[in-house]
Amino acid sequence: MEDVQIKLTSEKRDFLGFSHLDAGKIIELFDYSLFIKNKRKEKSAESNFLPLKDKTVAMIFSKPSLRTRVSFELGIHELGGYAITLDGQSIGLGSRESVEDVAMLLSRYNDAIVARLHEHAIIEGIAQHSTIPVVNALTDLSHPCQVLADVFTLYERSLWNEHIKVVFVGDGNNVANSWIELAGLLPFHFVLACPEGYTPDQGLLECARKKGISKIEILHDPMEAAAKADVLYTDVWTSMGQEEEKEERIRIFSPFQINSAMLREAKPTAVVMHCMPAHRGQEISAEVMDGPQSVILDEAENRLHVQKALLVKLLNHDVYRKFHLTHRLLNASKKTKS
Ligand code: CP
Ligand code: NVA
Repeated sequence: MEDVQIKLTSEKRDFLGFSHLDAGKIIELFDYSLFIKNKRKEKSAESNFLPLKDKTVAMIFSKPSLRTRVSFELGIHELGGYAITLDGQSIGLGSRESVEDVAMLLSRYNDAIVARLHEHAIIEGIAQHSTIPVVNALTDLSHPCQVLADVFTLYERSLWNEHIKVVFVGDGNNVANSWIELAGLLPFHFVLACPEGYTPDQGLLECARKKGISKIEILHDPMEAAAKADVLYTDVWTSMGQEEEKEERIRIFSPFQINSAMLREAKPTAVVMHCMPAHRGQEISAEVMDGPQSVILDEAENRLHVQKALLVKLLNHDVYRKFHLTHRLLNASKKTKS
């Protein structure tokens, strides 16, 4: 797999994944996400804050979506921009029209492209041929916007630190791959508990391990993995596009359900996460999903705030930079006074 996940060049910024971002930039993005989240609470302040005014974003969905589509469309609207949602099948991406032509054409009309696609190579192709920022809204390989919102959920609760043990229980899928990519960027302890044969992308795993930043373990015993976890995380056993394998997967993954017995293995303070859509009774029991340790709806809400912050960073870098300069000056003056 080509190691071109995020490009931060002076002429164009994409967000395809984590590998070319640094830890400082992630924390900056989280601080901006907090600012955006708080601003949304004061409706009057938000109505004057329109950093995407006159900007349009083309969104291509080649797979179903609820959270991603709603949070991007709403976020773009709240920032003063306009979202055009396109169905990948009806555009005929790669069949009716080449990926290259779609990318060049959308670049003439819009200010950014957000895309949810099957093959990751297609989003890399769009990024290569467009002149505007491209955001990965999920591919078969990765789902970085989801993991950004997940880590922000832990960050805002002051749970994120280099000792945190995040245990992903289930399939080594796109969401698990993004956690692994992140482990090559921010230090933490990541454990993936998956059945044999359902391991994550080897290229991403090797790349993250080579960076030597985080402890990354791949285990096949979910109860052993869950021991003293700070976070128990799961996702569907059958991802979009794998529907034909559903029955076999339910059989193979049944010991990998997050339930009360597994939660007892984790720390008493552990939180439970799931990117949703969720299937109670399969990858997670209803009592855990709806129980007091679940932060699942917070994660889903945070997609909105984090993606708004990301769009401002990509589409109106001056506003984003100004916020951070002011923030740094304020912090420096606070330190001088104390
Ligand atoms: N978590 C997530 O991406 O949800 P959707 O598939 O509904 O967008
Ligand atoms: N792994 C899941 C994530 C859904 C948000 C899928 O790709 O279907």
